[in-house]
Amino acid sequence: MTLERRITLSSNAMLAIGALLFFTMMNLMKVHTPTQPAKKTLLTAGEVAQHIALQEKLSKYKKSFRISNDNNRNRYVGLSKIWTEFSYTKGAEVGVWKGDFSKYMLENMPTLTSYVLVDSWRHLDNWNKPWNKDNAEFEAVFQTAMQNTKSFQDAGICSVVRGTNVEAAPQIPDASLDFVYLDGDHTLRGIMFDLNLYAPKVRPGGMVCGDDYTFGQHETKFDPTMVKPYVDLYGELNHLSIVDLGEVQFCYIVPP
Ligand SMILES: C[S@@+](CC[C@H](N)C(=O)[O-])C[C@H]1O[C@@H](n2cnc3c(N)ncnc32)[C@H](O)[C@@H]1O
Repeated sequence: MTLERRITLSSNAMLAIGALLFFTMMNLMKVHTPTQPAKKTLLTAGEVAQHIALQEKLSKYKKSFRISNDNNRNRYVGLSKIWTEFSYTKGAEVGVWKGDFSKYMLENMPTLTSYVLVDSWRHLDNWNKPWNKDNAEFEAVFQTAMQNTKSFQDAGICSVVRGTNVEAAPQIPDASLDFVYLDGDHTLRGIMFDLNLYAPKVRPGGMVCGDDYTFGQHETKFDPTMVKPYVDLYGELNHLSIVDLGEVQFCYIVPP
């Protein structure tokens, strides 16, 4: 073989190895490139200042909810007042039962233009809590919830997504809500799913709130409520200022 031919062969081999390396790298990058857009990490001074101002505004309500001995009245009045003061217009409630809370919000929040009710209204095999009734009872509970909210559904303000938290979540676009109220399954599994599925539905500057911000509850034959331990850890991990409003209610402002 001539020297010239040997040089041609080895440069062809180098080219082939280079091309192989290039395509391997491209494929690796394709596999490892996240499909989600990268989360914004740098905030403007204005965004930070606005977030701090909203957190300060909310923190004034810390432990402020006890105005009577009636827990329902206290949380209804307290939360409707906060959400109205923040001029929120679009909300959702996860865990509705007969719609008593929903009815109160719809009747007492004049700013509301859209309120989504999310509830499975059926017996769930993986929910070991006293509210988990049989399907016949749940059907009656559902009918009551529909009656309680009918005029607002007719007016196009209230909409209903009947399904579990997991089934319903894809029907609510991300960052489309001003607030969400989590009041469904309060076990560890329940609050973990609710918070991770529904917090992204709230826009920055909006509020994630929930009921039964406590630990334990009920007789030992039921699964313990784990809202407070889970929410506190979730808050620590995500640098959130969780506000204990009293009357076992929590809220935090969604950061920019
Ligand atoms: C405590 S009640 C809600 C009370 C209501 N927010 C109020 O204040 O009047 C709990 C509701 O959560 C619903 N629920 C429980 N687990 C659920 C799940 N995984 N997905 C959707 N709804 C669920 C139940 O069907 C039940 O109606």
